Amino acid sequence: MRGLPQAPCHLTSVPLLPNIPRLLDELAHLATISAHPAPAVTRVLFSEEDLTARAWLLTLAENAGLRTRSDSIGNLFITLPGSDPSLPAVATGSHTDAIPNAGAYDGVVGVLGGLEALRSIAESGETPRRSIELIMFTAEEPTRFGIGCLGSRMMAGTITADEARQLRDPNGISLEQLRPPQYSGDLAATRLTPGSYSHFIELHIEQGPHLEAAGIDIGLVEKIAAPAAFRLTFTGTGGHAGAVLMPGRHDAFLAAAETALAVETAALESGSPDTVGTTGVIEVKPGAINSIPCHALMEIDFRDTDLAARDAALIRIRQSAETICERRGVQLDWFLINSDPPALCSQEILAVAETHTTDLSYTSTRLISRAYHDSLFMARLCPTAMIFIPCLNGWSHRPDEFSSPQAIAKGTTLLAHTLLTLAAS
Ligand code: GLV
Ligand code: MN
Ligand code: MN
Repeated sequence: MRGLPQAPCHLTSVPLLPNIPRLLDELAHLATISAHPAPAVTRVLFSEEDLTARAWLLTLAENAGLRTRSDSIGNLFITLPGSDPSLPAVATGSHTDAIPNAGAYDGVVGVLGGLEALRSIAESGETPRRSIELIMFTAEEPTRFGIGCLGSRMMAGTITADEARQLRDPNGISLEQLRPPQYSGDLAATRLTPGSYSHFIELHIEQGPHLEAAGIDIGLVEKIAAPAAFRLTFTGTGGHAGAVLMPGRHDAFLAAAETALAVETAALESGSPDTVGTTGVIEVKPGAINSIPCHALMEIDFRDTDLAARDAALIRIRQSAETICERRGVQLDWFLINSDPPALCSQEILAVAETHTTDLSYTSTRLISRAYHDSLFMARLCPTAMIFIPCLNGWSHRPDEFSSPQAIAKGTTLLAHTLLTLAAS
């Protein structure tokens, strides 16, 4: 076995039996709390749907006799107390927010599967040595404030309370204005010190095709790719679409469009097969068919497992954007939203999970995560790893996202066993 822990954990021999029909009912119910009709799921941070989902999750946890609390950014903590609560807890968790027109599984499987894992441990009659904590992280998705993993970033201190207070949504509404009264405490208190948890392990759908294509039950994630995001604003000169002749134009949208193609070229030519670049947001003003765009805003997501290749590509994009804007007489403003390094997962946790996988007669493989997750930031606080389960065609961030009941059952059962073993360490 690869990566044996330095002090091997004794695997739990307690058989844990998550209640899968209950979990599937809860997944189905959560999918109905959505701003868009089924099968689409949309739950944006601090929307009515997000707040309803949070309240429902806390009720489920309280009904199961688990302890609940929240921090000032709205991360929710659901605790199964251990026999030695003075020890740092083992944690699991994910998110329940969903981008517009998403599906019912991204993030949610890790939260409701995590809740079911805690309940199955409690129902087994076993008291873990360390407490086990489920975290529902605030805004893993960047929809509202343009930055992903807001809750886990604040816990890890990669965004400060002052920086968070500056965040504005697309309507100019600040985080401070949006924060509901139940999360009104000091934002700075959200930050945790490394070692606050002993281990963190997140269950998530793969959001890629490999497990399904290979017919493998479980992916054990060894590395999470490095994401970066930036916002470009282009200021040109507007005017009448009929009256201003082509040679005299400084069209902000065309400068943006050419830059979007430069993003694609930089990703294709980075030399790393894992580079991906996406221009997912474009806004044009004034937005009238007979008016030359005087303003364009673009948001770009750029990632790689290879940090050097990613950063070299970012420099190239910036140079291309400057050249394009100079040639077109358009002013460019470049704002880096985030630029995070990759995370390496804990071989200790992976070894424990891998051994349980064998005990449970599940097949598994090691892989990397190209999507980011709250684990990227939890890895700054404690040893961290992820369990992936297959999803249909690798689809995610779309309404037909799907993971089978069998896959969810295996992921949840493996999570429960791994948590109990880690909690005994
Ligand atoms: C998370 O949702 C991501 O965009 O990777
Ligand atoms: Mn997502
Ligand atoms: Mn997710």
